Amino acid sequence: MHSNTGLDGVIAADTVLSEVDGEAGRLIIRGHALEELVGRRSFEEVLGTLLDGFFEPESSTPLARSLGAARAQVFSSLPQADTRLRSLSPIEALRALIARLGDGEDLATALKLIAAPAVFTAALVRLRSGERPIAPDPGSGHVTDFLRMLRGEPAPRHEVVALESYLVTIADHGLNASTFAARIVASTRAGLVSATIAALSALKGPLHGGAPGPVLDMLDAIGTAENAAPWLERALSRGDRLMGFGHRIYRVRDPRADALRETLRVLGAERGALSSRLALAEAVEAAALELLRREKPGRALSTNVEFYTALLLEALAIPREAFTCAFAMGRAGGWIAHAREQVLHGRLIRPQSRYVGPRSSSACAPPS
Ligand code: ACO
Repeated sequence: MHSNTGLDGVIAADTVLSEVDGEAGRLIIRGHALEELVGRRSFEEVLGTLLDGFFEPESSTPLARSLGAARAQVFSSLPQADTRLRSLSPIEALRALIARLGDGEDLATALKLIAAPAVFTAALVRLRSGERPIAPDPGSGHVTDFLRMLRGEPAPRHEVVALESYLVTIADHGLNASTFAARIVASTRAGLVSATIAALSALKGPLHGGAPGPVLDMLDAIGTAENAAPWLERALSRGDRLMGFGHRIYRVRDPRADALRETLRVLGAERGALSSRLALAEAVEAAALELLRREKPGRALSTNVEFYTALLLEALAIPREAFTCAFAMGRAGGWIAHAREQVLHGRLIRPQSRYVGPRSSSACAPPS
């Protein structure tokens, strides 16, 4: 008989980085409630908070400047003529490009890894549509620069603010699957590039960071508010999972979904054009919650971060096949802080498995 715990409830690390309180529906990042950070702190400020104390102070250069320089370094490693990159999905191409960066444990390696998802995602999206990648502006803010590299022109301020709020919202989140993968690899002392590649591979799956693209596919397939309930009922009766709902730990609310709902509301107020998409999304959300309450009465399943991530990234004109890369852009700093915490304060991660296979009679025989 196989156990099916998914390590539910197991404490596998001590961390000062973040606390996910599922019963209260709260997220704390290094002592700050999520609501104190989103819309109030820049991406670079939150990054500085996460990385604080995990690296030797290498210079007194402000983090935003060092990150800008790292973007320029990463861009210079981009093999623009490599046509195979265009045939991979953006997340697979991002993983391949990051694998070419030299491994290490120092701050310079860390900053390249944090810069890489922004630089490579913008370049990959452009290459896939036959456009030339645009070089970073090292003096610019990280989020401002990403949107300019992606679009070829500066984004309006309210769009920069919205994307910055998204990246801060997802900066760190306890021992989720990708962060755990990063800590396992870091615990072998393989280096930060290796840990990040492991994390990216875990993030890619549709049960983790791969959910927002399918959320939009679901909205497109549903099409109208009236079709929401029958469509969702059919999906659930086939045994499908409803993308953007449910969470292993949150039992009352996912505070990140609330933060992104508010970010979208502010973006929508600037834009107006969002309203019909949001109205459909709200109808689908209401129908899904009602259905999940009815069909899974013991589970307390609610809207998770990925539902509103999908709507926000779509509103920012980020192509849906690059959504997981955008998640990596926000989460890379968290992965690296966890990897360093594991190296500095943890041990090799080596749990045990229970053997449930056959035993040969000689293996069971007592020693003669
Ligand atoms: N739709 C339908 N049923 C669901 C859903 C869902 N979205 N989520 C959980 N369930 C059901 C399961 O089928 C299972 O039912 P059963 O006990 O009758 O077999 C039960 O609820 C399991 O519930 P949990 O223990 O709460 O779920 P678990 O921890 O195993 O999975 C997960 C969590 C993977 C996020 C799940 O809710 C899911 O697949 N959601 C859809 C994908 C998604 O939105 N992923 C993004 C998560 S956020 C992030 O990673 C950044």
